[in-house]
Amino acid sequence: MKYEDVYNVLRDHERFSSKRHPRVVGIAPPLVLISDDPPRHSRFRRLVNKTFTLKRIEALTPWITSIADELLDEAGHGEIEIVERYTIPLPVKVIARLLGIPGDDYEIFKHWSDAFLSLVSMDNDQRMANIQEMMGYFGKIAAARRAQGAEDLITALVEAEVEGEKLEEWEILGFCMLLLIAGNETTTNLMGNMFNLLAARPQLWQQLRNDRSLIESVIEETLRYESPVHRLGRTATTEVEFSGVRIPAGDLVTVYFAAANRDPAEFPDPDEFRLDRDLRNHVGFGMGIHYCLGAPLARAEAKVSLNAFLDRFSTIKPGEAPAVRQTLTPLLFGFERLPLVLEH
Ligand code: HEM
Repeated sequence: MKYEDVYNVLRDHERFSSKRHPRVVGIAPPLVLISDDPPRHSRFRRLVNKTFTLKRIEALTPWITSIADELLDEAGHGEIEIVERYTIPLPVKVIARLLGIPGDDYEIFKHWSDAFLSLVSMDNDQRMANIQEMMGYFGKIAAARRAQGAEDLITALVEAEVEGEKLEEWEILGFCMLLLIAGNETTTNLMGNMFNLLAARPQLWQQLRNDRSLIESVIEETLRYESPVHRLGRTATTEVEFSGVRIPAGDLVTVYFAAANRDPAEFPDPDEFRLDRDLRNHVGFGMGIHYCLGAPLARAEAKVSLNAFLDRFSTIKPGEAPAVRQTLTPLLFGFERLPLVLEH
């Protein structure tokens, strides 16, 4: 798939629907918002845009920094398996905090989040039981926040109103679940891919230690070069001729974000990791009406993390133990295990 093809599909939500194709419904149950088309998508997005604001993310940044420091204090130095010690716990803790999950409940929250993603390692009944338990829990918090608001996203969702419209209960619970699914493993993968690329580039590490203004470019180039979301699906609503290919109505169309990000017509020398490119148009966060709602949060987490690692470690190298890419799903690209040698 060329960049242009991906661009055109993502812009054309009338002919390429985000409703789950029957062939993938069994594997990936429909989710609110991300599996919706207009007008329902537009209404929902308007309401959640009101709650998922830049201001809220900025307010969270000092807290993200303290979690990063805490995790790194616990991890020490030398060879560290950073997926288990850092890149998994950080995003889960951040989303728990954002939603207003009390600190003590974090472990169970992490367990539910894993259960949803355990398509292979857990049987369906067990997974469903976990999801029901999680929905019940979110339901209780929503009820409590209706009675008395707090400084969290669930309160904002309960109170959100656009032109007299409010979110319904099932929408609020479905959205909380979507944040778990869309916001955790993706961010884990971005950070793992980024630290792995830097471990192979010792000079760049030194350069970054002296010049933090390059951090944003490292994050954006990682999103392009090793996109954490490789591909997602759409369904053709009518027969359509596309780049010389006839696609029958109802067919599943796979959109390769990662291929678009390596198209030489859009990114010259696409297989080189370079910080001097124009990265404004990469599609690592998608494009069009479904453009990633959590992009500012993912960027903030990656930035805080890279700064925290740079502050603490003078060198970063691949570990002795082998790094292992995740193979649970072909949709995502990241690490299951990433041992790195980090020295003060
Ligand atoms: C590096 C990390 C992330 C990557 C690479 C990523 C990637 C994406 C992509 C490619 C889409 C478009 C889906 C489509 O077109 O069908 C998307 C949508 C979405 N993402 Fe992210 N995401 C990341 C982090 C997050 C975080 C941290 C959150 C929230 C906490 C989040 C929430 C969402 C939501 C709610 C949508 C659906 C938006 C809509 O349908 O209107 N994402 N993301």
